Amino acid sequence: MCGIVGYIGEKNSVNFLIDGLKRLEYRGYDSAGLAVLGDNENNVEVIKKNGRLDELERAIQKESPQGKTGIGHTRWATHGKPSEANAHPHIDCKRKIALVHNGIIENFFTLREYLEKKGHIFTSQTDTEVLVHLIEENFNGSLVETVRKVTTLLGGSFAIAVICSLDPDLIVAARKDSPLVIGLGEGENFIASDIPALLQHTKNILILEDNEIAEVSRNGIRITTFDNKPIDRKVFEVKWDVEAAEKSGYEDFMLKEIYEQPTAIHNTILGRFKENNEIVLDELALSEKEINNFDKVFIVACGTSYHAGLVARQTIERWARLSVEIDIASEFRYRDTVIDNKTLVIAITQSGETSDTIAAVREAKRRGGRVIAVTNVVGSSITREADGVIYTHAGPEIGVAATKTLVSQIVALYILALWLTQTREQADSSIIRKIIEEIKSLPDKVKEVLLIAPHIKECAEKFVNCADFLFLGRGVGYPVALEGALKLKEISYIHAEGYAAGEMKHGPIALLDKDVPVVVVANYSSVYDKILSNILEAKARDAVIVAVATDGDENIKQFADYVFYVPETHELLSPIVTIVPLQLFAYYIAKKRGCDVDQPRNLAKSVTVE
Ligand code: M6R
Repeated sequence: MCGIVGYIGEKNSVNFLIDGLKRLEYRGYDSAGLAVLGDNENNVEVIKKNGRLDELERAIQKESPQGKTGIGHTRWATHGKPSEANAHPHIDCKRKIALVHNGIIENFFTLREYLEKKGHIFTSQTDTEVLVHLIEENFNGSLVETVRKVTTLLGGSFAIAVICSLDPDLIVAARKDSPLVIGLGEGENFIASDIPALLQHTKNILILEDNEIAEVSRNGIRITTFDNKPIDRKVFEVKWDVEAAEKSGYEDFMLKEIYEQPTAIHNTILGRFKENNEIVLDELALSEKEINNFDKVFIVACGTSYHAGLVARQTIERWARLSVEIDIASEFRYRDTVIDNKTLVIAITQSGETSDTIAAVREAKRRGGRVIAVTNVVGSSITREADGVIYTHAGPEIGVAATKTLVSQIVALYILALWLTQTREQADSSIIRKIIEEIKSLPDKVKEVLLIAPHIKECAEKFVNCADFLFLGRGVGYPVALEGALKLKEISYIHAEGYAAGEMKHGPIALLDKDVPVVVVANYSSVYDKILSNILEAKARDAVIVAVATDGDENIKQFADYVFYVPETHELLSPIVTIVPLQLFAYYIAKKRGCDVDQPRNLAKSVTVE
């Protein structure tokens, strides 16, 4: 998963390329590079550097490349370690063609052997380099027709942008299973992996779909399918602005996004409930008959989105009385799952680009399942795969660690669960109305939790030197514990395990001593007494206890060394308030350890490779 950009117009392309790459750095930051076609150049000029984008910027200041056509790349290594040689763009033997790629060419080894036999010299260990040599090998005078031919030889996934000094007024872009969007300017056009890279320049976007090629020149775009059928794509106008994708005075995107959670929840709810509290999900285009025909729900997702799914499992079971299975997408796609046309499949992915989730959706559809996607990104790949989409409307999330998109996903899934309940007549309308009123109060309750940030910071800073943590929860507190542990490990690099509290005695209790703090989700719930017993078990092994508890629970102070209080809410809605202190706890520990919370090592925002 990498970020790619391209520019063609009257200005020096380098300015846009660097600016665009900065906004895409969340997709990978192992190395970066760009290639431009100068007016009087016969060859492409390529500059690339190992490491973060600043390295490339320094090189550019020295070398001042100029060119009105250019492409750029920020890399997250898959094939070949992070190095200057493996950085993109890659060029052909004659230095006429340059190419950037996001995805994985699965048959690259065979292609490389074939090309080497033909005399091509490879300078990297990447899968990508075969693409540029294949174009060179097959070049027939037309860049677009050559790229079209080359796409038929490729296995795997790709979004590519290619320039050639023999055709300097053209960028050819193509996509299969990796995202790519085109921005429309005046006398200039742009390419990027993701919309935020374009927003400062245009809000008019064309989304390139799978198996399509775009010829991008300064005055126009022509899109065709791989088998050369013309496409008349509608221009999509983006509503959010650059400001929404910037830090707005916060130290990091992650902190800003934690504080945006009340607004994110509000936006997820907006327009979903009529005045009489009837639920509106017309976009799903599912008839009452179809909904009543479902006998099972299957949820698939990865990472934080999977944790949202674990919460949804409990609400759908409890409210809609449908049996729910859930699996991690990378496991699901290779299982022999029992899915048919009576199964409602819910795929959760903030980015809409996670390769495993998309593959799981394809598999579920092949087996006859009806798929609903819950995503934050309009026009993302999952929206084209699913039968229906619920957008979370959380706004762009730039920090690699998911925060506001998680709460939005959970809220969107509450709405879906209640809608199924309402349509299947599984609960009295007064009960549904009560839950809806409680959902509407969640933004204010999250605001209350954010007020205790200074207390959480003070407490977090006492734990910066710990090497291991255990996070415990029961019921809907269990996914919260998993998510709290995931947040801590991904941004602070401290080992943390999330566990079902009742399961602790079956193994992890062996880890406990005074040096392993235990963080417990211990708000009032139907399993509150059970969780207190689990806290006592941990305390008996000298563990320091950090508890998330309900406002007014004085009793918990006897058991816990530190308490983060959250407002009371409906038990199944409680993850929305209990997760917030754990996000802040992870954030402040990571900051104190000097970690880059927005771009943690080895991670990328959207995982578009298997
Ligand atoms: O875009 P998605 O929701 O499909 O992404 C899934 C995971 O890659 C993502 O949640 C990941 O676990 C984040 N690093 C969590 O903070």
